[in-house]
Amino acid sequence: MTTTPMSTRHTFGHSMLAHWTLDPAITYLNHGTVGAVPRRVQLAQQAIRDEIERQPARYLLRELADVGDFAMRMPPRMRTAAAAVASFVGARAEDLAFVDNATTGCNAVLRSMRLAPGDEILVTDHGYGAVTKAARYAAERFGANVAVATLPMTGVTPERIVAAIESALTPRTKLLVVDHVCSPSALVLPVAEIAARCRARGVAVLVDGAHAPGALPLDIQKLGVDFYTGNLHKWAMAPRASAILWAAPARQGDLHPTVISWGYGQGMSPEFDLPGTRDPSAWLASPDGIAFMRELGLDAMRAWNHRLAWDAARTLTERWGTAIPAPESMYGSMVTIPLPERLGTTREAAAKLKDALLYDEHIESQVQYFNGSVGVRLAAQVYNAPEDFEKLRAAMEKRG
Ligand SMILES: Cc1ncc(COP(=O)(O)O)c(C=O)c1O
Repeated sequence: MTTTPMSTRHTFGHSMLAHWTLDPAITYLNHGTVGAVPRRVQLAQQAIRDEIERQPARYLLRELADVGDFAMRMPPRMRTAAAAVASFVGARAEDLAFVDNATTGCNAVLRSMRLAPGDEILVTDHGYGAVTKAARYAAERFGANVAVATLPMTGVTPERIVAAIESALTPRTKLLVVDHVCSPSALVLPVAEIAARCRARGVAVLVDGAHAPGALPLDIQKLGVDFYTGNLHKWAMAPRASAILWAAPARQGDLHPTVISWGYGQGMSPEFDLPGTRDPSAWLASPDGIAFMRELGLDAMRAWNHRLAWDAARTLTERWGTAIPAPESMYGSMVTIPLPERLGTTREAAAKLKDALLYDEHIESQVQYFNGSVGVRLAAQVYNAPEDFEKLRAAMEKRG
């Protein structure tokens, strides 16, 4: 694999595809779903794997993580990578661990909770299904319950979101799980304000920031939350599977990974840094994803992505006579819009349309059924251009 050198000034759009290995036959409008790893980051990960294979035992047991068994002759590689990522997300390295993905990060928090019968975990109806299931599992073990806050679907404002969550808190609520960027609706929620309301009532907050790192500027320590997890492999250009879990210092003593290993009882970094033998290269190459984004220009990248997604949302809703549910300030690199009813209103119709777009039109896009209607989550990355969304529009209109 070869890489195209990047100049310091970029023209975003299709020329940027040279930095990815995406199939040129596909119009890729779904960066948010599982990410897409830049060519250069793939090479960095391979270089790490090559280095591991030169002396696997030394790399994986003597250099990777400090779980107290050996006198280490170098800073643990996991901590060096954590420090690079921590400075990018507004955290201290000692409060941040790597996990495989946001699902794993949420599981660690939820499965570390000690609840009493009748206690509640509050989630929202815009939350990610797998995480809501993990909350159910965590609650059921203690005879506790999961309550669901209903968020508005139209006429959304930050104030209405905060009010909807606050009114669902009860004296039994022990933990709120809330998305930073909601998976189905793509709304960016006012998590600092939500956390302030929870703090006033003694409710802990876990933010599921699966879509946040890279897409949004992050200063985790300033959010006033208890736990924060976020994927690096979606918008932060890291290899899969790489994500972070941050915990406020006061919460770390009771927080444990889902896999208990040698570091148990030694604190957050040792507990999470060595979850048994595995390939750590995605975590260790994550700083390369951050370096790539910095070279693109973080503000320029975010501005391009936001403008593309927002302009596409405006154009399509105007044409289809539908409405964008929230103001521009509540979206980042993705905007979910409703489709006209003639394109279908059921889960089956959404699946059929998504498949037709992929297999017949060669467009990868997030068509989805959510809360009673079919919508499309428009996601933009620097390799996309307005023509991609125009192609999506034409392909959809052929079908209804
Ligand atoms: C809010 C939210 N949480 C969790 C996830 C799951 O991410 P992963 O599969 O990387 O754990 C997603 C994925 O889109 C998401 O949007």
